[in-house]
Amino acid sequence: MRVLVTGAAGFIGSHTVEALLARGDAVLGLDNFNAFYDPALKRRNVASLIKDSRFSLIEGDITDPRALDAAFAEPLDAVIHLAAWAGVRPSIDRPDIYVDVNVRGTLDLLERMRRARIDRFVFASSSSVYGGRETVPFVETDPVDRPISPYAATKKAGEVLSYTYHHLHGLNVSALRFFTVYGPRQRPEMAIHKFATQMVRGEPIALYGDGSTARDYTFIDDIVQGVLASLDRCVGYEIYNLGEAETTRLDALIAKLGQALGVAPKLYHAPLQPGDVPITFADIGKARAKLGYAPSTKIDAGLARFAAWFHREGVR
Ligand SMILES: NC(=O)c1ccc[n+]([C@@H]2O[C@H](COP(=O)([O-])OP(=O)(O)OC[C@H]3O[C@@H](n4cnc5c(N)ncnc54)[C@H](O)[C@@H]3O)[C@@H](O)[C@H]2O)c1
Repeated sequence: MRVLVTGAAGFIGSHTVEALLARGDAVLGLDNFNAFYDPALKRRNVASLIKDSRFSLIEGDITDPRALDAAFAEPLDAVIHLAAWAGVRPSIDRPDIYVDVNVRGTLDLLERMRRARIDRFVFASSSSVYGGRETVPFVETDPVDRPISPYAATKKAGEVLSYTYHHLHGLNVSALRFFTVYGPRQRPEMAIHKFATQMVRGEPIALYGDGSTARDYTFIDDIVQGVLASLDRCVGYEIYNLGEAETTRLDALIAKLGQALGVAPKLYHAPLQPGDVPITFADIGKARAKLGYAPSTKIDAGLARFAAWFHREGVR
């Protein structure tokens, strides 16, 4: 199989490419190495991948027709679409970029797929589409029409547009709602990586609210297993939660991370941030049943693996 992976140089993208190559697939990566975070980290993410002859990489933007011309010039069997402006808080200041890339960019990709008759689409959605729901766990059939950040709204739009292409053009779609993914190469501005950097620098960490906000943290290897399974079983239009099905409170997470890194965290209290949701918690029954998704890395083990990577390669 030859797969186009957008966002191939990013955190989840580079791990996904690695796993596809490891099982024998050929991969075309498309990434614009934007400056949402240091592009040097993205170059490092792909440094070993580009040595593999079954991997080729186009440096280009999904909103640029020339980049899409180049990407769709060669035969492809499927697209895994991970390129996006990610992150909730920055989307409040720059909703325009989020709409340009996450909505318009996704639409352009869907159009190219239709024209090239490529019928398998794996789309990176997000647990943020569940908005401020406090009824947990979140199930794929829950109403998700009240996103509370522009980022979440663009991810919901991507799910909806892909449904339209499924309905009109028979596109098979796996829309994956990732729940806070962490592990080696995690985006540096995300909780865990950001906290780790602050801890080793001796800087205080903001404890938002009373520390009781909770997240379903999902280890990268588990996510990648779900992505590949959803590619292999991409039939019809299906939305899947990919989480760990366990929650960790913010205060507990900081304490556990400190232990894993061997550093005593310093804290200061800060108000809850706009756009942040109180809890995320995935019901993964559907992914288990239909994809054989079986996340296996508990938070303590995952943080230990993250800490080992961070001590070796993390940004200081
Ligand atoms: N990391 C998480 O916890 C998480 C949770 C939910 C959803 N997601 C989604 O998963 C996907 C991957 O997230 P990530 O954490 O690996 O982020 P990331 O920022 O590390 O990866 C995204 C990659 O896409 C590239 N990109 C962005 N805009 C582009 C454009 N216009 N053209 C070409 N390339 C572009 C970036 O350069 C980057 O390398 C995103 O769609 C994100 O919204 C991530």
